[in-house]
Amino acid sequence: MDRISVKQARQKGAIGRQVIVQGWIRTRRDSKGGFSFLELNDGSSLGNLQIIAEAALENYESEVKHLGAASSVTIEGEVKASGGKQATEVLAKKIIVHGLADPEAYPLQKKAHSLEKLREWAHLRPRTNTFGAVTRVRNCVSRSIHNFYQEEGFLYIHTPIITASDCEGAGAMFRVSTLDPDKLPLKEGKVDSSQDFFGRPAYLTVSGQLNAEIFACSLGKVYTFGPTFRAENSNTSRHLAEFWMVEPEVAFNDLNDNMALAERFLKRLFSDALSQCDEDMKFFAEHYDKETISTLEQIIAKEFIHCPYTEAVSILEKSGEKFDFPVKWGIDLQSEHERYLTEKHFKSPVILFDYPRTLKPFYMRVNDDGKTVRAMDVLVPKVGEIIGGSQREERLDVLTQRMGEQHLRPEDYWWYCDLRRFGTVPHAGFGLGLERAVQFITGMQNIRDVIPFPRTPGSAEF
Ligand code: 4AD
Ligand code: MG
Repeated sequence: MDRISVKQARQKGAIGRQVIVQGWIRTRRDSKGGFSFLELNDGSSLGNLQIIAEAALENYESEVKHLGAASSVTIEGEVKASGGKQATEVLAKKIIVHGLADPEAYPLQKKAHSLEKLREWAHLRPRTNTFGAVTRVRNCVSRSIHNFYQEEGFLYIHTPIITASDCEGAGAMFRVSTLDPDKLPLKEGKVDSSQDFFGRPAYLTVSGQLNAEIFACSLGKVYTFGPTFRAENSNTSRHLAEFWMVEPEVAFNDLNDNMALAERFLKRLFSDALSQCDEDMKFFAEHYDKETISTLEQIIAKEFIHCPYTEAVSILEKSGEKFDFPVKWGIDLQSEHERYLTEKHFKSPVILFDYPRTLKPFYMRVNDDGKTVRAMDVLVPKVGEIIGGSQREERLDVLTQRMGEQHLRPEDYWWYCDLRRFGTVPHAGFGLGLERAVQFITGMQNIRDVIPFPRTPGSAEF
């Protein structure tokens, strides 16, 4: 007798097999004919497996008739063709009950809790259809990320989580320290970090980019994929304090190569989600965003639009829209501007590039105009910025000048400067926020609902 998943038992090919299936009951319905229908789920698929439990089972009266939502069971039986809307069902020969759940006390007994309420029950929400589906899609996207880069010959680099450098410039990092906050060692009125664990101030990383660049500048094509941290106090539906980012970095790539890689990469993630998570994607289309599948299909079929920042600003200025933040050349585009461009003007994903140098970090390559840098942001409808990246500044003199402008000391980045000193190469890369990608694919409105345990200002319960 084989132990198989609910997903496997739901396939026609399983008919006739003697199997063991294990999982949690979703519902029980007793028939007048003296038997019960159980709906079993084990996380392997959205759909449940129908179990027929006959009164002849030795524990039918004592246990089976008490099974309800969340009860855990092992079932031995035969897979049969079903007369119902599903292809198969299992006729139980034995039901072992591991744990019952009191229907009066079980919070998910009553159907249809709001997503907000479910966030308070992060330990229970994986039991809902929505979070099962999100979890499977998130897994699929993670697998596709590795498949895509591995197939293209990239090396997976594990960049550090604790770091002493600030990749994106200007604050917003979590401090990592073993000093006792009640007995901080002071020197000239300031905390003496030389007495701290690393002998210097240390932080949780905001990006693995600078470390990935080190490897790209010797091994060619690399990517890092891991958790990143931002201590910004932004309480929006698109920001987390802890999120996962995938960052490819490629030697000898320029900005055009970078844009082409980003487009190919996103399309691969979208098409894998559509082909490998068919049942879950239909669920999202039915319950959350009826356009999600058609949007992805259209995006896969078309080329992304490329638009320089300067042109985007003039489109916005001429749009006649009333924006909360007025538009003029040199401003950091707000999400209302980004969404206007991708949703209303272009009605397509759009890659904005060549941003003003004053807006972007020191490491982005300065254009010949002296005013702009080779930055790119990929914007998609509903989510806005999904990817941020650039061609990197490979000229040491320009790089050190840019550091000066941003009040950074080249001595602190001596190793980053060394990459330009010894065999410098043009190179480029970008970062994709995993949660923004999953948000876009599923059509879920709030980023907190696409990560197992969201970390946001004031919230880190589980
Ligand atoms: O645009 P960002 O800040 O770029 C970087 O960190 C570069 N160092 C990446 C690189 O070139 N290697 O962040 C990249 C992406 C954003 O486009 C967004 O998708 C996501 O990371 N992101 C966030 N996702 C959730 N919550 C936040 N607070 C995020 N901040 C950025
Ligand atoms: Mg960005």
